[in-house]
Amino acid sequence: MSTAGIHSKVQEVKDLTRIERIGAHSHIRGLGLDDSLEPRKISQGMVGQLRARKSAGIILTMIREGKIAGRAILIGGQPGTGKTAIAMGMAKSLGEETPFTMLAGSEIFSLEMSKTEALTQAFRKSIGVRIREEAEIIEGEVVEIEIDKSVSSGAKTGKITLKTTEMETVYDLGQKMIEAIQKEKIVAGDIITIDKASGKISKLGRSFSRSSDYDNVGPQTRFVQCPEGELQKRKEVVHTVTLHEIDVINSRTQGFLALFAGDIGEIKPEVREQIDQKVAEWREEGRAEIVPGVLFIDEVHMLDIECFSFLNRALESDQAPVVIMATNRGITKIRGTEYLSPHGLPIDLLDRALIITTDPYNQKEIQQILEIRCQEEDVEITEDAMSLLTKIGKESSLRYGIHLITASNLVAIKRKSHEVDVQDIRKVYSLFVDIKRSVQFLKDFEKEFMFHEVSKEELEAMDTN
Ligand SMILES: Nc1ncnc2c1ncn2[C@@H]1O[C@H](COP(=O)(O)OP(=O)(O)O)[C@@H](O)[C@H]1O
Ligand SMILES: [Mg+2]
Repeated sequence: MSTAGIHSKVQEVKDLTRIERIGAHSHIRGLGLDDSLEPRKISQGMVGQLRARKSAGIILTMIREGKIAGRAILIGGQPGTGKTAIAMGMAKSLGEETPFTMLAGSEIFSLEMSKTEALTQAFRKSIGVRIREEAEIIEGEVVEIEIDKSVSSGAKTGKITLKTTEMETVYDLGQKMIEAIQKEKIVAGDIITIDKASGKISKLGRSFSRSSDYDNVGPQTRFVQCPEGELQKRKEVVHTVTLHEIDVINSRTQGFLALFAGDIGEIKPEVREQIDQKVAEWREEGRAEIVPGVLFIDEVHMLDIECFSFLNRALESDQAPVVIMATNRGITKIRGTEYLSPHGLPIDLLDRALIITTDPYNQKEIQQILEIRCQEEDVEITEDAMSLLTKIGKESSLRYGIHLITASNLVAIKRKSHEVDVQDIRKVYSLFVDIKRSVQFLKDFEKEFMFHEVSKEELEAMDTN
């Protein structure tokens, strides 16, 4: 098993899967803490919830030091109090090098694989292996690029001339390299490196000798010296992949295409054993080290007793990630049993966990979160409309308030206004009901519905908060 092969394949997959959209938490850019881990009131998209954010920051420091493995953290609190948002903030602050896996409790129950296999995969996605290796590269300044297109077949052929301060060589270019050169917009005077194993081309900057050549220079242009010595050299490169990525690439039936197809299925235990052994060898040789990441299990009360017992065991391994769980349940049944327990989690698992609680937001905080969401969605809103929206957010729910932003903006656009006003909020408030009004509707028209199984008294008593 070569480490270089693994790296270039994983890189290809990562390049292809990066998409950014506006999601429920896209405004969150970190935990908003200062250098001494004190939470700023509003920062990095985060508002209030100071105690929980500070606790999350302390846990981040422990994770960054890489010393702890197999700790469990539970974030408990009412719906809409920012549990998932805090976990996303932690992920953002950790950066790309530390693996962070997100899983909703209910995802475990898929038909394609057993619950324990799904959990094992999630664990292995959350453990990184930092691999150091020598790569053969060609590094030099581009003197000339020549690309010819065949008139009959349309195929491209080409040559590139590279130089260092001491030598100059011409290399033939294949179809793939030509595409890469065109994509990276490489021209004469650029300093580039080519990874010989993967053929990946990267631009380091412009040569100093071209610094007077104003045509090709933008404000962000970086100037570098023309390399010295040989064109071909060996260089140490470091990259991080997850155990799961190594598993999939080496699982003969799957191959690396499975990584983006998503249909990975079960991975044989033998494959994992081999990989663990290989990684252990690399570690001994000083070529690799383990980077414990984070596994975030949202809505953890959806797991059942078998999963909980798996978690207990798995947390004891020295290759375990930090497991962060979130739940909005109070004292309730542990799934798969008749026993009641706090948060629906077994006591032995709770006992391992550091527990962070989140509190409901006050009116001001709700307004601040709604304002941030308006900015995120590029929605202009009048002051009056914002106070109405805040009132709705406080009385119904923060999430309902957030939903009304997009909808009311569409209504405003329809009447050709660039700003959401009170009338738009009123309109969507009457179009889309919140939970309270939905329950009221059920009370009023109970007889007309199918599967109506509660009595009038029970329905009256139903708590809609
Ligand atoms: N403290 C906060 N700062 C900024 N946005 C927040 C904060 N708390 C919650 N939100 C946003 O409010 C919405 C609901 O919060 P969420 O994290 O999903 O709640 P929970 O997971 O506790 O049910 C999300 O869009 C979230 O990003
Ligand atoms: Mg949540």
